Amino acid sequence: MALLLGLLLVLLLGPWTELELPRAGGRGEGGELGARTALRTAALLAENPDGSPVFIAFRSSTKKSVQYDDVPEYKDRLSLSENYTLSISNARISDEKRFVCMLVTEDNVFEAPTVVKVFKQPSKPEIVSKAPFLETEQLKQLGDCVSKDSYPYSNITWYKNGRLLQHLEGVVNISFTKHMDPVTQLYTMTSSLEYKATKADIQMPFTCSVTYYGPSGQNTLYSEQAVFDIYYPTEQVTIQVLPPKSAIKEGDNITLRCLGNGNPPPEEFLFYLPGQTEGIRSSNAYTLTDVRRNATGDYKCSLVDKKSMNASTAITVHYLDLSLNPSGEVTKQIGDALPVSCTISASRNATVVWMKDNIRLRSSPSFSSLRYQDAGNYVCETALQEVEGLKKRQSLTLIVEGKPQIKMTKKTDPSGLSKTITCHVEGFPKPAIQWTITGSGSVINQTEESPYVNGRYSSKIIISPEENVTLTCTAENQLEKTVNSLNVSAISIPEHDETDEISDENREKVNDQAKLIVGIVVGLLLAALVAGVVYWLYMKKSKSASKHVNKDLGNLEENKKLEENNHKAEP
Ligand SMILES: *[C@@H]1O[C@H](CO)[C@@H](O)[C@H](O)[C@H]1NC(C)=O
Ligand SMILES: *[C@@H]1O[C@H](CO)[C@@H](O)[C@H](O)[C@H]1NC(C)=O
Ligand SMILES: *[C@@H]1O[C@H](CO)[C@@H](O)[C@H](O)[C@H]1NC(C)=O
Ligand SMILES: *[C@@H]1O[C@H](CO)[C@@H](O)[C@H](O)[C@H]1NC(C)=O
Ligand SMILES: *[C@@H]1O[C@H](CO)[C@@H](O)[C@H](O)[C@H]1NC(C)=O
Ligand SMILES: *[C@@H]1O[C@H](CO)[C@@H](O)[C@H](O)[C@H]1NC(C)=O
Ligand SMILES: *[C@@H]1O[C@H](CO)[C@@H](O)[C@H](O)[C@H]1NC(C)=O
Ligand SMILES: *[C@@H]1O[C@H](CO)[C@@H](O)[C@H](O)[C@H]1NC(C)=O
Ligand SMILES: *[C@@H]1O[C@H](CO)[C@@H](O)[C@H](O)[C@H]1NC(C)=O
Ligand SMILES: *[C@@H]1O[C@H](CO)[C@@H](O)[C@H](O)[C@H]1NC(C)=O
Repeated sequence: MALLLGLLLVLLLGPWTELELPRAGGRGEGGELGARTALRTAALLAENPDGSPVFIAFRSSTKKSVQYDDVPEYKDRLSLSENYTLSISNARISDEKRFVCMLVTEDNVFEAPTVVKVFKQPSKPEIVSKAPFLETEQLKQLGDCVSKDSYPYSNITWYKNGRLLQHLEGVVNISFTKHMDPVTQLYTMTSSLEYKATKADIQMPFTCSVTYYGPSGQNTLYSEQAVFDIYYPTEQVTIQVLPPKSAIKEGDNITLRCLGNGNPPPEEFLFYLPGQTEGIRSSNAYTLTDVRRNATGDYKCSLVDKKSMNASTAITVHYLDLSLNPSGEVTKQIGDALPVSCTISASRNATVVWMKDNIRLRSSPSFSSLRYQDAGNYVCETALQEVEGLKKRQSLTLIVEGKPQIKMTKKTDPSGLSKTITCHVEGFPKPAIQWTITGSGSVINQTEESPYVNGRYSSKIIISPEENVTLTCTAENQLEKTVNSLNVSAISIPEHDETDEISDENREKVNDQAKLIVGIVVGLLLAALVAGVVYWLYMKKSKSASKHVNKDLGNLEENKKLEENNHKAEP
């Protein structure tokens, strides 16, 4: 009867373990033996692998002594107790053999064999020679699962994510080897796993286990998990543009960034500029500096080794040109025509905004006949809403020059004690006004100047002449000096009030014009007569106009009307 002894044999390093061999004749022979104790001698034999027995111990019931044979293998390891229990200490694999207990009595020899089994639990399996990474579509060595010092040898099993891995042609290749140490006779088992990974194996834990026999049957020990980096090829290439595509403008630096979704991601790409078939090899970022509008187009990048794996993007480099003509400082004469143009050329619709002295204009300026109030700082400005920072502006500083023009008016104070003479002057640069008085008379030395607005202003003088005087107003600027005078009668002399005297210069012009009109309308014969009539009519009209003006001296509206009348009077 073979008895399995559930003892582990730990060699060299392990704790001392005793291998226990129970009394032979377990089937009740012991009782029989016990009855004839005096007669017996027990002998213990161990069988060599070839089957030949070797006596290792004797115990005689009479002598009550134990004799151990001189077997080197068992030297100092045996102990046969009084109850015939043989203990073998410091067990070895070589102790796995058949032992026989012989009981020798006077008339018989009893024999009972037992087979001693020895077990050694293997070490916890370990995955070694781990692949740094696995690759999809490639059967690659994943690693070796090693478990050491097993007796008898054990089996190794591989698992992926807890599920058994079995041999599968071209996908899973497991090869098992075992090696016995000739000295200790213990086995080291190695299982090599070749594995063809897929993307589904990302983050999957691999483990292996060793299944060994122990005294109580099969047991299993598991390794730690191993996770592998799975390499897989790029299946898609994407291209990114910085700054965001909608906001690219001339002068920007554009960075094209190419990405591949493989693992590891590709580090190099070929970049194709618009219209080019040859790619430029570069890292995953390609920068174009200070782009111009001609950089607009389709950009592409591809993998270096697989040009069909590509991505492209269309880039528009926005631009905005503005040209103001004329621009800068422009000096013009009053009445001149000045066409102004502000033209834009842009990658998108852009609107133009006009400003004059920081006030927005409703429409673009254009001058058929310049007025003083047209002078100012004009700005033509444009922007592309879609593109941040794309703005252009140009300015025009318009200066309207004009020779001084004088117009004099007089008004008698209701009390009749003083007269107010006003000299209206128009011109740019601002003419200086100078008054001179001929003749005597008490002059209330009081001059008042109105503000200089839109090229015109006036100077007022209040006098109380005791005799007829002539007042002369001189206006002078860089362009010309203009003189105008007015006869003012003494305050004692009644006079048509609020007369607006028109300067000699103007009167001559009016006469010329009148003659011309008369010549056309009536003919040469009636010229003198009709001229008189027309002149009289004109004077009447002029007086009524002056009344109006004089009531509201200083009022800009009225001044403007006055101004217009003057212009009409000019040739
Ligand atoms: C026999 O003796 C040994 C040691 O003296 C003891 O451990 C063991 O229990 C005994 N066995 C029996 C069956 O009495
Ligand atoms: C499986 O592995 C063994 C040992 O490494 C090798 O000899 C054999 O060729 C492999 N089989 C395949 C299909 O790769
Ligand atoms: C190892 O595998 C073999 C064959 O499949 C089997 O006969 C044996 O019992 C296994 N050993 C262990 C310890 O599982
Ligand atoms: C573009 O890059 C250059 C250097 O390569 C740098 O000097 C310049 O300032 C950059 N321009 C912009 C608009 O960022
Ligand atoms: C774009 O035009 C500039 C000159 O304006 C030239 O220097 C540059 O080479 C052109 N670039 C391309 C890509 O045609
Ligand atoms: C990549 O380029 C090839 C030709 O070189 C073309 O046929 C294919 O459509 C391109 N693929 C993509 C995604 O642009
Ligand atoms: C640009 O202007 C054209 C003509 O005025 C018009 O047809 C087009 O819709 C405009 N485009 C945009 C983006 O406003
Ligand atoms: C007006 O007064 C100034 C000083 O206030 C004087 O210099 C000037 O001569 C006076 N003019 C007349 C005409 O009296
Ligand atoms: C003013 O009076 C003088 C003489 O009294 C005369 O010569 C001159 O023509 C008059 N001027 C005007 C504008 O009436
Ligand atoms: C002053 O002028 C008035 C008319 O305006 C005239 O009647 C008078 O004779 C003049 N007096 C002198 C002294 O010239």
